Amino acid sequence: MAGRIPQQFIDELISRVDIVEVIDARVPLRKTGRDYTARCPFHEEKSPSFTVSPTKQFYHCFGCQAHGTAISFLMEYEHLDFIEAVHELANKVGLEVPKSSGPDAVPAPPNTELYDILEQATRLYREQLREHPVAVDYLKQRGLTGAVAAEFAIGYAPPGWDTALQNLGKTGRSQQSLLEAGLLIKKDQGGYYDRFRNRIMFPIRDRRGRVIGFGGRVLDKDGTPKYLNSPETPVFHKGNELYGLYEAQQALRRLERLLVVEGYMDVVALAQNGIHYAVATLGTATTPEHVERLFRAAPELIFCFDGDRAGREAAWRAVEHALPNLRDGRQARVIFLPEGDDPDSLVRREGREQFEQRIAQSVPISTFYYEGLLKQTDISSMEGRARLVELARPMLSKLNAGVLRHMMITKLAELTHLDVNALSRMLAGNARPVTTTTNPPSSRPPHTFRSGLTPLRLGISLLLHAPKLAPRAGNPQRWSGLTTRGINLWISILELLQATPHLTGSAILEHWRGTKQEQLLTDLAMEELAIPADGYDAEFLGIVRWLDGQLREQRWAYLHDKCQREGLSGEEKREFLTFGEPSSNAPH
Ligand code: CTP
Ligand code: MN
Repeated sequence: MAGRIPQQFIDELISRVDIVEVIDARVPLRKTGRDYTARCPFHEEKSPSFTVSPTKQFYHCFGCQAHGTAISFLMEYEHLDFIEAVHELANKVGLEVPKSSGPDAVPAPPNTELYDILEQATRLYREQLREHPVAVDYLKQRGLTGAVAAEFAIGYAPPGWDTALQNLGKTGRSQQSLLEAGLLIKKDQGGYYDRFRNRIMFPIRDRRGRVIGFGGRVLDKDGTPKYLNSPETPVFHKGNELYGLYEAQQALRRLERLLVVEGYMDVVALAQNGIHYAVATLGTATTPEHVERLFRAAPELIFCFDGDRAGREAAWRAVEHALPNLRDGRQARVIFLPEGDDPDSLVRREGREQFEQRIAQSVPISTFYYEGLLKQTDISSMEGRARLVELARPMLSKLNAGVLRHMMITKLAELTHLDVNALSRMLAGNARPVTTTTNPPSSRPPHTFRSGLTPLRLGISLLLHAPKLAPRAGNPQRWSGLTTRGINLWISILELLQATPHLTGSAILEHWRGTKQEQLLTDLAMEELAIPADGYDAEFLGIVRWLDGQLREQRWAYLHDKCQREGLSGEEKREFLTFGEPSSNAPH
């Protein structure tokens, strides 16, 4: 997504915009020392913990962990998407967002004609609902009142082949819009017909309340498919959208939590019964994009699944996406419904209170996660416990440092009877255990390394705080053979900064927007370095030396290994000797 607007333009934009101005215009800021503060606009608080740094061009709330660049701020505060936020900022500083062709092209500006026609269609289907008792009866029989139908703008597409076409497609141009909006299908012989016929229509709205597509449910029992969704269109992307999120945000000023369910009817039936915080994915599995959007809207997510096997499998996937997105202050839980029920049937049968009691009994996803792993291995044996650590390792390595990660590791330590510190070290170590009998050259990390940050993370954090350090590293390609975790990211950032020296920390972040590394970089940008600014240089050079030491270690291990396997050439022997005094049992 971010890749569509040329990155150079984003660089330029970030360098022209002042985040302090952007935020101050919406949330008045007070200067306190070097930074600006305010009461956080993203959570309720009495004393200000929202901070804006003019040097880093970055905001951060110590209370709710909201953070990001000027672009992120607009996305969160004004519920814009990335493209819209970029347009808004560009407007403000008088830059024109470049249009180019080819794969790098900027998507056409949000198509107002499409939003228009979708709005008209929503009205049309609502009128049709009033005129068709069969549809009204269906909704009543499913327990819905007119008020909730109105809240969700539920409508009806009658059985004819041309309701939308006749009413909304009077001109060639409006037919084109209907087609692009996914409401018409083109006939092979020319001409069009309505996509949605004899279906209850659920409009899907984006975060600004604009209708972007529909889900349509058949009226009769055996019609197929049961649900028909709008196709992908310029304004509708199924994998990103969440049904009911806009309505939930309208109904409740502050969303404390969101209940993630499967179907349109589940969302609507829950609202009918007083639970206004349910959302549904649109017939797809939960994606990481969904999870990130959900967490932006509320600090706690409760995933609701069927009790059958398919439900458990869906739960496992959702958990794998949700865990890495957790950070302090964010919670996720899962709940399984009795077999044969869905939230719709359950809430109608037992009512709000009982349903909310089920929610209260949901399980934290960390617990659910370990329960799942424990089914795959028998921890009564030592091998089984070692295997458990290996099973958990990939997930733990994706978690950001913080309370949650600590809790997950503590839990794993309990399960495996390992000491927490030993376990943390095992999980942090990426290298294969050294099994040589001689002493490799030791490259201890510089003594100033802060606890919790690996040398590379500290290095990257320094670059985000002070990009002008980059040239001091020399050619970063020399480290490309290292297996140290994060080495590729480190090299990429250095190359970026050496090619474009004027970038600020927040411009660097924008280069990684939407990638797997975005979260890590954001965390590192927020890291409060316990080093005075005039100490950055020395610290940075320490890391460079440490990395060069790693290179030497790797070379030494290679030569040592080769020496034992097949012997060294004369040149290699000389090189090997340069590694310093061989210890008593060194190879010769
Ligand atoms: N779905 C879909 N396409 C289908 C079937 C289902 O997109 N052919 C999606 C819809 O979002 C639907 C959800 O999956 O709401 C759940 O479908 P299902 O469990 O089959 O139906 P219910 O939600 O229980 O629908 P209802 O109660 O109306 O029968
Ligand atoms: Mn159902």
